[in-house]
Amino acid sequence: MSAPTPLSQKEYGQRRQAVLRALAPTGALLLPAARECLRNGDTHFPFRQSSDFLYLTGFQEPDAVLVLLPGRAAGEALLFCRDHDARRERYDGPRLGPEQAAEALGLDDAFPLSDIDDILPSLLEDRAQIYLPLGSDEAFEQQVQGWIEECRSRRGGPVGALELTDSGHVLHELRLKKSPGELRLMREAARISAEAHCRAMGRAAPGVPEYVLEAEIAHTFRSSGATGPAYPSIVGGGANACIMHYVDNAAPLPEGGLVLIDAGAEYQGYAADITRTFPVSGRFSDAQRQLYDLVYAAQEAAIHAVRPGATFNDPHLASQRVLIAGLIALDVLTGTVDEILAQGRAMPFLVHRCSHWLGLDVHDVGDYRFGDAWRILEPGMVLTIEPGLYFPAELPETPARFAGLGLRIEDDVLVTKTGFEVLTEGVPRRAEEIEALMQARRRAA
Ligand code: GLY
Ligand code: MN
Ligand code: MN
Repeated sequence: MSAPTPLSQKEYGQRRQAVLRALAPTGALLLPAARECLRNGDTHFPFRQSSDFLYLTGFQEPDAVLVLLPGRAAGEALLFCRDHDARRERYDGPRLGPEQAAEALGLDDAFPLSDIDDILPSLLEDRAQIYLPLGSDEAFEQQVQGWIEECRSRRGGPVGALELTDSGHVLHELRLKKSPGELRLMREAARISAEAHCRAMGRAAPGVPEYVLEAEIAHTFRSSGATGPAYPSIVGGGANACIMHYVDNAAPLPEGGLVLIDAGAEYQGYAADITRTFPVSGRFSDAQRQLYDLVYAAQEAAIHAVRPGATFNDPHLASQRVLIAGLIALDVLTGTVDEILAQGRAMPFLVHRCSHWLGLDVHDVGDYRFGDAWRILEPGMVLTIEPGLYFPAELPETPARFAGLGLRIEDDVLVTKTGFEVLTEGVPRRAEEIEALMQARRRAA
């Protein structure tokens, strides 16, 4: 299968045009790249570009600032980036450099980052609003304050206050709805992630350390062209599945237990997010199967609640109603679904909500509600559907037969014009299909 085409320069240009149209005519957007983060000595943590910056440039270097200036006759889209440095480039690899950057990225102009303090205040002279990410890079915010001060002194005396606005208000609405090009990349992230889950299922056996399954997943991601995991992979055997952010992945898989894997690849910046829960032995016990089928039914109800015009909360509510009805039928809860929902009495077992947006970030940007009103789903939005049930042994309400069981099923769902499309269908969800896949993979091993 051939790899999907990367996003075109034209698409990045269209995104910048959309931002330029959304800014106030006297506004200026100042968007910094992510910083390299020192781990120790001269070793850095793996670099991951800021998603907003990547969305508007496709540029993967640190130490850069994108400037968008609506209506500027001499050019609306400018970049400041690292100059060439022969010595550093021998260590870190080539830099694009300001001479090539404008043409390579389809921008109007590019300058060395070392000149930014000289150039930027004059670019702000006729501007009234500055859009920048607030609360994520304090040093950058201080630098912007310095440019504003410099601009004020150049304007010669007090001028109208330069209003600071969070750039997220403009950018994150645009990021929420995915283009056909983005969906191609998200489908690839989903395909690779589904394959990784299938392979990990084939490696499960009593006593096998959780990290062996994690390694199978990491191997599949990387050897399929993904950058790596979009978030730290969770491989929780037995009661470890009840720890939401379990990432030690170091315990042996328990005989007769379940294992929960929550793992997704990042492909050209875009995330997938899949969870499967399956029996270490390859066959669910009766108690495990009861709970699994319940979570499956809740997920089915939630997936079928995804359609344009539904609210973001509808799938969540659909899954909660099925889970609670099931817990009543299993004698875990008493009362009616409405009473239990209103009193929040199922929450110890349900723990988290059913969905979040998915895109360049695994918990992607975009408002979930406006005041008291939940957001309406629209074609092009992608969300996870991930109901779960958790019965930690320490919880007094946990029935003995379910003690230590934690289950979640998570898929990535696109809102289409008529309803939904599950992007992560490449890994089975039904209990019988999971059992069949595990038997087949073991026979093949
Ligand atoms: N993997 C993080 C989540 O499911 O939200
Ligand atoms: Mn998720
Ligand atoms: Mn997940």
